[in-house]
Order: sequence, then structure tokens, then C-alpha cells
Amino acid sequence: MDSIKIFAPATVANVGCGFDVLGFCLDTVGDIMRVSKSTRKGIRITAIDGFDLPLDPKVNIAGVSALALYRSLDLDFGFDIEIQKRIKPGSGIGSSAASAAGSVFAINQLLDKPFSATELVKFALKGESMASQSEHADNLAPALFGGFTLVKSINPLEILKLPYPEELFAVIVHPQIEIKTADARSILPKTVSLEDAVVQWSNLGSLIHGLHTSDYGLIGRSLQDVIVEPRRSQLIPNYNVLKTTALSQGALGTSISGSGPSIFSLCQGEATAKAVASAQHEIMVRSDVPFQTYISKINNEGFKILS
Ligand code: HSE
Repeated sequence: MDSIKIFAPATVANVGCGFDVLGFCLDTVGDIMRVSKSTRKGIRITAIDGFDLPLDPKVNIAGVSALALYRSLDLDFGFDIEIQKRIKPGSGIGSSAASAAGSVFAINQLLDKPFSATELVKFALKGESMASQSEHADNLAPALFGGFTLVKSINPLEILKLPYPEELFAVIVHPQIEIKTADARSILPKTVSLEDAVVQWSNLGSLIHGLHTSDYGLIGRSLQDVIVEPRRSQLIPNYNVLKTTALSQGALGTSISGSGPSIFSLCQGEATAKAVASAQHEIMVRSDVPFQTYISKINNEGFKILS
């Protein structure tokens, strides 16, 4: 195989109480990337469609990860990368992670898979951390492993893939304002009270248990974030009304996707997901903020090979 076309999925990081450690992978939203072997050594970004992003691989997220992988090997050929960027940068659904992980996933396929998913996360972290000025793998892990993932540790890198119940659907509302991850991190407190920490780890433990035991009620009751959401929700127009509307339509829980501005809800079944999306749509059309909504099953595969 000399060339590969892939679907690079969007992802939801944090999932309420799991700041920087928990994430899940979406099915219906993502970029398209083509990576081809070239007789010329090195990594080149040959085209980017959709958004105005740099072609220089040293400052392009997909290029930085690809270079990290490439430099770990001694190859006498190189790779050309084309990106059809569909996930808006600064959307909160893992735009940078899709690019950072996409280039290394595709190159690994073209090389006959010398690297494990965990090793690919390590290379992709180089691109992701350049983008957000911090090291977190809670978007990269679900993109590369699929499903729900828990980043147990960044150093050494240890990622756990979690089970989840079959009927879980995600609804995403993306108000199209840009929130840079670095900015959304800069407003977070450096320390938290013991009281808040107890609530947060109780919720995270319970959420993981709910995912393991397919306990939808427990999943819903655990989707609470007392540390990050109170600060970041202030950056998102209509956040409170979008959240209460989703809950009144039967969502199990609603919170900020990654560093925002996207908002995710988890729902049991597609009918509830559609009701939540439609009620949130009504609210957004009445505001003057352009937006998109998505309904997605959890994507257990992660990256998909298209051809
Ligand atoms: N965990 C990261 C954050 C995800 O919330 O800052 C960024 O997408």
C-alpha cells in the first residue's frame, strides 16, 4: 500500500468529571486525510482544504506528530499529507487531536503497523501539545483506541479502553465561536478544595462503574463537574439554558465538550438524542450565534480506513 485515505474522528474530552483523563470518540464528525509514500525523504503537507492552516510541517499539528514518528525511524523515503479539515479548530471536539493522531495513524498503516496505539498517542502528543501548550491525551486516546478511554497516566503513558452500553448516543451543539484550549485552561484554578476533589473523584469513579455495568441512571447522576464547568461555562453563550433543555428532554447528562465551546449530552437511545438535538436547535436559532448540531453513536473503532 502506497497511499491511504482515512476518516479522522472528532472526540469529546473530559466528559464532565474526567478533566484531562476521560474521553470518547464520535462517529459522524471528522476530517478526511490522505497520506502517500513519496520517494523524497521527509514529511510534507501538500494541501489543506477547509481552514487556513500552515503547510510547514514544523508548525502544522499533523506535521509535528508525523515528524516525531518519522525521526524515530531511518527511512529512505518520505510521506505527503493532504488534509480535508472538517472539524473547526477551537471547536472543543478534538480538532487538533484528529490532525495530530491522523498523520501518525496513516503513516503507521503504510509502514505495516510497527507501532501500538499507545506509541502513536506518544507521537501525536507532540502535535497536540504544540496546539494547546499543555500535555493532555484525552482527545488523542479515544481517537486512536475508539470508544471510551481513560488516560491513567501521561508519563509513563498508560491508556485504558473502557466498555460502554450499546444504546449510548451523543448530541453535540457547536456554537461557532472559537475558544482556544490554552485560553480555556488559563482560567482554571491551580488548586481545588478537598471538598470539591471528593465530589469530583466520586463522580468519576461512579461514571466508570456506570459504563462498566451499563447503568444509564448512574452514568447520568455521575456526569457532574464541580471544578471546570463552573469556570468555563461562562465563556459559552446560552450554556445554562442549553443544558437544562437537554436534561428536560431526557438527556442522561450534559457538560462542556473538551475546552468548549461545544456542549455534549449523553442519551440512552437515538429517539432521546433526536429530541435533545431538536430542542437545543430551537434555542440556538433564536440566538444570533451560528451553530451546528450533531447526533452520533459512540465510535468504537476510532480512525477508519476509507481506501
Ligand atoms: N482536557 C483538555 C481541556 C481537552 O479541557 O483543556 C482540550 O480539548
